[in-house]
Amino acid sequence: MCKITAVVNQKGGVGKTTTTLNLGYALAEKGKKVLLIDLDPQSSLTVSLGYDDNDSITTTIASLMSMVIEDEELPDKKEYIISVGAIDVIPCNIELSAIEVSLVNAMSREMILKTVMQEFKEYYDYIIIDCSPSLGMLTINALAACNSVIIPVTPEYLSAKGLELLLRNIIRVKKKINEKISIDGILLTMYVERMNLSKEIKEMIEDAYGKTVHIYTNRIPKSVKVGESTMKNKTIIEYAKNNKVAIAYQELAKEVLDNECSTN
Ligand SMILES: Nc1ncnc2c1ncn2[C@@H]1O[C@H](COP(=O)(O)OP(=O)(O)O)[C@@H](O)[C@H]1O
Ligand SMILES: [Mg+2]
Repeated sequence: MCKITAVVNQKGGVGKTTTTLNLGYALAEKGKKVLLIDLDPQSSLTVSLGYDDNDSITTTIASLMSMVIEDEELPDKKEYIISVGAIDVIPCNIELSAIEVSLVNAMSREMILKTVMQEFKEYYDYIIIDCSPSLGMLTINALAACNSVIIPVTPEYLSAKGLELLLRNIIRVKKKINEKISIDGILLTMYVERMNLSKEIKEMIEDAYGKTVHIYTNRIPKSVKVGESTMKNKTIIEYAKNNKVAIAYQELAKEVLDNECSTN
């Protein structure tokens, strides 16, 4: 069984891409077969893996989705899945923003990504989708294709306030399109333990959602090393394995695997 997780939040800069990459890497370190999908037209995940010139990549998640829309056969997966160390990736470039527009008139427009994924999901234990900062058609496609979601949230007032709208949207997709979605959890990122604001927002989230949604006990701390690792095209775990963020993502991977065992 492949677990397909969408990392979602309509707010930008909350750690979706960082979480996708580092959780994916940590799961691969534990022997899992992992695929990451870059579903953000800004392509931060693709760029952070070292594909700066991503406009020249010929087959991306955008072209695969476009083939499904046009009813064309998809190429062999060897032609578009890139292996970066222990993880596999389907990259992205700015063409994905044109796909989002063409989805508006496509048949079964919510199901395009899910159809693409039929081609390769049997080869992976985990597929993690890095979503764009919007609740548009691309994110709906991710929610329709996944069986779980992780919601990174930073300890800021606006980030916490946006949760209500996001959860409402996820529940709507669950009712109408994909009853398999489980909200695996809210993940606090860029958390500064000694800051009152961090604590206050954490409590606000726990009060508002703690009864209905799991909040990961592992919080991801803030560290300047994260930015440095991105510049070096490395995960934080490779760049600074004793760093607190590296350790937190490895602990998160453990928590993800443990939750798996207890629900199976
Ligand atoms: N734990 C962290 N500590 C410090 N900086 C972080 C951390 N996680 C992410 N960042 C930085 O914050 C910015 C936004 O993170 P990113 O993962 O790209 O968010 P999103 O994908 O939600 O837009 C990036 O510059 C990233 O390097
Ligand atoms: Mg991102």
